[in-house]
Parts: sequence; C-alpha cells; structure tokens
Amino acid sequence: MRRPVIAGNWKMHKTIAETSAFVARLRERVANVNHCDIVVAPPFTALRAAAEAARGSNLRIAGQDVHWEPNGAHTGDISAGMLMEAGATAVIIGHSERRRDHGETDEMINRKLKAALAAGLTPIVCVGETLEERESGRTQEVLSRQFEGGFAGLTPWEFSRIMMAYEPVWAIGTGRTATPEMAAESHTYLRELSRRRFGEAEAERLRILYGGSVKPDNIAGLMREVQIDGALVGGASLDLESFVAIVQYPPLVAAGRVG
Ligand code: PGA
Repeated sequence: MRRPVIAGNWKMHKTIAETSAFVARLRERVANVNHCDIVVAPPFTALRAAAEAARGSNLRIAGQDVHWEPNGAHTGDISAGMLMEAGATAVIIGHSERRRDHGETDEMINRKLKAALAAGLTPIVCVGETLEERESGRTQEVLSRQFEGGFAGLTPWEFSRIMMAYEPVWAIGTGRTATPEMAAESHTYLRELSRRRFGEAEAERLRILYGGSVKPDNIAGLMREVQIDGALVGGASLDLESFVAIVQYPPLVAAGRVG
C-alpha cells in the first residue's frame, strides 16, 4: 500500500519570519500524524528557516524548483546541492506556473529531475493539461508527452525515487477542482504509462498526488479514490487551520479507503 503524502506549495508567499512561526505551529499540530508524509515547500529564501523550525519533526521541506547544473553562470537559479544545504530533502519540478512563466520544457524538466535525483533529493514532478487541451479531448495526449519527455532516460530504480503530481492547469488557483473521478482517471492513465515504461512493481509503488484547488472540504472525496495518493496544495496550505484540516483527512475517509 502506498503511503499518502500531503504537500503544501507556498509559491511566492511568506517571509522568513512568517515561515518560522508557521512551521513552529504546524509541527505541534501534526506531531501525532503518522498516516501520511507531510511536505512544506516555502520560497528559497525561507528554506533554511523552515528546515530549522522543522528539525526533529515529521515535516519534510521541499524547494519549488531546481537548476540542472551544480553551479555556474545561471543568474537567479538554485542548484540541488544548495537546496540540500538549506535543509530541503525534496523539490517540486515542472510546476505549470514555471512552464508558463519561465518557458520550462519537458526536456528542461527531465534535466532538473536527473540533477535532483543525483543529489539525493526526492523530485515531485508536475504534469497536467490546460483547459483548452482538456476541452479538445487531448488530456491523455498531453500527459503522455509530458511523461515521455519528463521521464526520458530514467532507470526503474531512479523512477522509484520520484513522486508525481497530476495538476490540471485549469484547476490551479481557480477554485475549480477536478472531480475525484476525473482526477482518478488521469492518475490511472499516468500509472498505466508508468507500467508500460518501468514495469508493474514501479507503477504500483509510484505515489501520484492530485493538485488544483484542494481544500479541507474536498480532500476526503479525493482521498477516497485509491488511485489518488495525496495532494499538492497551493492556496489552502498558506493557512494553518486549513492545511492541518487537509492533513487530517483520514477520520473522514477511514471507512472508504481500503488498501
Ligand atoms: P492551488 O494550487 O491549490 O492554489 O490550486 C495548487 C498548485 O499549484 O500546486
């Protein structure tokens, strides 16, 4: 059985001071949680503060992006080694906002992914279609292209160390969540692609998170789907109460989710 993951993607929110205070309170509130992994991804400037506030707790800290080179003339970029030094153990790669704002391609994402793996970070790789792509019936074609490009050249062992996040672009920050059935359909497809490329065992082991307007009131429905292994939460992860409520989904679904 796959261990669920609830991850908060803070995007360009929270200062160092806000991060320290938030993580200090969060760790107390989730100290007894052992049904899922909990990840928090603050901006680069606050990574170290987050890691210090989380030390010795059940929280993992993630970066929101990484460059593929270990160092060099890349103004504004951060390497995997730098993320590790700041206390991150995971990194989000290929988020649709980076694909959109920074022109990230599947090839770049593939290079970032390999750099993260080489450094020992857990990559959380995002894929997902736009509204136009969904409405023109091209969701699977887009996912397949992102999968083939993003995961090119990986060995099954490398693939076993990643997490995937299915984030339909039209559901991010819009309040328009994919229904659990829609999300599960794409997750099933991504698992099928994984099976074809990396084999049954790796596909079954792969954790696929759903992202896009996840809130305390829709997490239970999503987590009832056995294909959905967790959530990548944006807006609702910025508020302590709502993030804690999302992390604490199990009492709501305990009856519905079976291995
Ligand atoms: P959202 O963002 O929860 O605010 O829709 C999710 C994400 O972009 O990871």
